[in-house]
Amino acid sequence: MSRIAGGIFTSHVPGIGGAIAKGLQQDPYWKPFFDGFDPVHQWLAEEKPDVAVVFYNDHGLNFFLDKMPTFAIGAAAEYRHEDEGWGIAFQRPFEGHQDLSWHIIEQVVASEFDPVTCQSMLVDHAVAVPFELCWPGKEAFPLKLIPIAINTVQHPLPSPRRCYNLGQAVGRAIESWEGDEKVVIFGTGGLSHQLEGGRAGHINVDYDKFCLRNLAPDPEALLQHDTLDIVELAGSQGVEILNWIAARGAMCGSVRELASNYHIPISNTAAATVLLENSDKVHA
Ligand code: DHB
Ligand code: FE
Repeated sequence: MSRIAGGIFTSHVPGIGGAIAKGLQQDPYWKPFFDGFDPVHQWLAEEKPDVAVVFYNDHGLNFFLDKMPTFAIGAAAEYRHEDEGWGIAFQRPFEGHQDLSWHIIEQVVASEFDPVTCQSMLVDHAVAVPFELCWPGKEAFPLKLIPIAINTVQHPLPSPRRCYNLGQAVGRAIESWEGDEKVVIFGTGGLSHQLEGGRAGHINVDYDKFCLRNLAPDPEALLQHDTLDIVELAGSQGVEILNWIAARGAMCGSVRELASNYHIPISNTAAATVLLENSDKVHA
């Protein structure tokens, strides 16, 4: 039976890709953010997960405004990053896990979700930046990818509870998989940020800290704000917290925070990295 070992939650600001390309990890602007990955590297070296299930939002690379699924699940043999305009030159491909992808798809459909199924799929900075942060260097990524895209871009967006429930369905599907893979869940994006309009640069430390405080012990606290409340609180891109909410929903065991880092700003974003451990299956 496969097992969810933990969750990694991180901002996916594309500028991080530029900083990696230029080797700026020790630069005073970047160091406080990159240092937040030390415990993540240590944990990954110990746990060596086989599969990453990544909740993220596509920013116009694979889906555009003309065709925007609320939920989409990858079922490809391989995924590739392409630069959607940020100048990021990541080259490493992402190996897929088609059998587990289809099992997840079958199970979430049985749970009455209706995802778009993607047998070919490009992934943008919201997948590639977190992978590069977690596994720096040039070697092939040491695990397989299952990408799950949530629409955080074109309204109407799904509700936080719907995203949480999707995450729970994905978590149950992983636990019912017959293989013995060890799985790490990712939630990418956030925390508060707004890139455009009169509130460009908006950051809400109180809301971010509320999310960070409750993510491990009481994730349902994050469901008290609806999606438009979150746009108001956290900014029009801060609503990427929906990816974190779905990812937290997938962690169905006994969850404990191992590390948390919060740093303002990286580009326009209140950047955060959280590592959660998931132990003892208790899911119904
Ligand atoms: C930035 C943050 C994002 O989440 C994103 O997708 C693009 C840009 C930023 O702060 O620059
Ligand atoms: Fe984003």
